Amino acid sequence: MSHHIPLRKAVFPVAGLGTRFLPATKVMPKEMLPVVDKPLIQYAIDEARAAGIEEFCLVTGRGKDSLIDYFDIAYELEDTLKKRGKTDYLDILQPSVVKPGSLVAVRQQEPLGLGHAVWCARDFVGNDPFAVLLPDDIVHSPVGCLQQLVEVYNKTGGNVLAVSEVPREHTNRYGILDIGTDDGHLVEVKGLVEKPKPEEAPSCLSIIGRYVLTADIMPHLAKLERGAGGEVQLTDAMAKVIGKVPFHGVRYKGTRYDCGDKVGFLEAQIALALERPDLADGVREFLRRYL
Ligand code: UTP
Repeated sequence: MSHHIPLRKAVFPVAGLGTRFLPATKVMPKEMLPVVDKPLIQYAIDEARAAGIEEFCLVTGRGKDSLIDYFDIAYELEDTLKKRGKTDYLDILQPSVVKPGSLVAVRQQEPLGLGHAVWCARDFVGNDPFAVLLPDDIVHSPVGCLQQLVEVYNKTGGNVLAVSEVPREHTNRYGILDIGTDDGHLVEVKGLVEKPKPEEAPSCLSIIGRYVLTADIMPHLAKLERGAGGEVQLTDAMAKVIGKVPFHGVRYKGTRYDCGDKVGFLEAQIALALERPDLADGVREFLRRYL
């Protein structure tokens, strides 16, 4: 058993504009786009639940109400399915309903950046440690990615980030780590830089959309300093607490799909459909025809 405060809260920033998926995201939140048959947000909530999260906070914006409705009981639908004896479908709906009172939403009002979105959840967080999950990233793994971070957090406390190796020419797309000790699984974080040029990147280890953070970050976010791209960057605030709280990266086991990107989104569709016994044969068959 650890002496660190157990992780029970998670923040889901979902207030972005999703410009890369226009026009689909004109009236529909990006996070409601389905991969096979589940919306992106459902993958993130399922992963959080499996890691012991009990309190969920969506940071939303205008036009994102369907994300909140999604976690309600759909009374008419369920009643109709019941009357028609379609109980399989009722079971499928179960994971999309959360315990009463366990999901809250706060408004970001203006998409000023991921750091600003996390700061909007400050009252929800209070003084507790919390996870941040970006629903654009789906991590397919036998043990959930957040669970892998929790296992480390329970030993080390402090901040724990999921990290993965990227090609050097892509460092300018990600938050990149400067690392100290490295045992191949756990790395010590000595520095963080948002979207560095390949020649200036201190490593090729990038942050993905899974974080365990302590509330120590909030006073730094509160300054609302603009960083890369004129946005309030979570990476910049995290960099300020290095040396003040334990700070580690975890080379998680699993495959990450960047569903905020069109090619990544399509890859996730195919890869996850191939994992499904009811779909794999049909998908393999049509893929053969195209390739
Ligand atoms: P992205 O960088 O993917 O931005 O945000 P985006 O607006 O969603 O998509 P594009 O780039 O315009 O296509 C990563 C995550 O952070 C959230 C987004 O909702 C997404 O889950 N986010 C980003 C916010 O909640 N608020 C912000 O101000 C920025």
